[in-house]
Amino acid sequence: MRVARPADRTIPFDRIRAVEWENERIKLIDQRVLPGKLEYVYVDNLGDAAEAIRLMVVRGAPAIGITAAYAVVLGARDRYQENPKNWREALKSDLDLLSAARPTAVNLRWAIERMCRLAETIDGSPVAQLLEEAQNIHCEDIAANHRIGELGAALIEPGSSVLTHCNAGALATGGYGTALGVVRAAVTSGRVFGVFANETRPWLQGSRLTAWELLQEGIPVTLTADSAAATLMRQGRIRWVIVGADRIAANGDVANKIGTYALALAARQLGVKFMVAAPISTIDLETPSGADIPIEVRAGEEVMEFAGQRTAPEGAHAWNPAFDITPAELIDAIVTENGVIEHPQARTLARLVGKKG
Ligand code: MRU
Repeated sequence: MRVARPADRTIPFDRIRAVEWENERIKLIDQRVLPGKLEYVYVDNLGDAAEAIRLMVVRGAPAIGITAAYAVVLGARDRYQENPKNWREALKSDLDLLSAARPTAVNLRWAIERMCRLAETIDGSPVAQLLEEAQNIHCEDIAANHRIGELGAALIEPGSSVLTHCNAGALATGGYGTALGVVRAAVTSGRVFGVFANETRPWLQGSRLTAWELLQEGIPVTLTADSAAATLMRQGRIRWVIVGADRIAANGDVANKIGTYALALAARQLGVKFMVAAPISTIDLETPSGADIPIEVRAGEEVMEFAGQRTAPEGAHAWNPAFDITPAELIDAIVTENGVIEHPQARTLARLVGKKG
């Protein structure tokens, strides 16, 4: 697989980078204020990186993992400066804080563990080696997404329209995106001519981020209220639902943005195909099934307010799970950089993880 450096943008529709390493700091597009403003948040220590993940300045499972990898560089630099003998021990509690920033996206834990494995082997200052590893994680994610895009697009019949949910695009990854990587590649090859995006209540990743990202690339997009999806499918207007994942359990169950499960149910009922596009780093073979995946429950205000204005009556309560579980049996294809599996099962998934991409 060709590994692209983060600045290598020769593939069509590949201009957006949500996370960058610049002048010894992490540069993040502030996803809380898109699409109204394109602003950046600069992070120069591990604690602020954890806070940026928690507050969703940066979001999307792979982008969270990449940010965490760079955060480990910053944390190690600071702990090494304080105490060159004991820095690894001191870093441990920082990493617990970082790991806890968002519980569902397994890429966060995956990236921290990969960085820690390297940290264990380093003599002297850890910065240069850890930075190289974080950049490898970042570049590998972009390369994986290019491959996911190609493989996913090949499944789509020419002339199709597709529906996506949340934002599994460049903004959610190292670049190019998983679900939106498939969309980008399928638009490039002329297989997809229509892209519908669910608005994705309550945080509006679809209307704020996916629509912004696709329009930046010149790809037309039609927004739909989440509740319009089943009707759209019933009218025969889409062939595939394409989504990303925050974690794929060993049996093929998928955690993704709340509302994904309802889409998968409707798709199965209405004969629409359902694709999950995700890098191997999102597959968690240590978690047996979807029932074992921790689901983040966010503040009720996200449901009871709109753009900071209260819309629900005082006294109302809200339940706001950020993710749901789509059972493996509702998934037609899982597309990764190592290949595609149709109708995922524990056996085929484990084989895919073990395979060389
Ligand atoms: O709460 P978010 O915006 O971090 O949720 C993101 C998603 O659910 C994405 O679909 C998932 O992380 C995959 S991103 C390639």
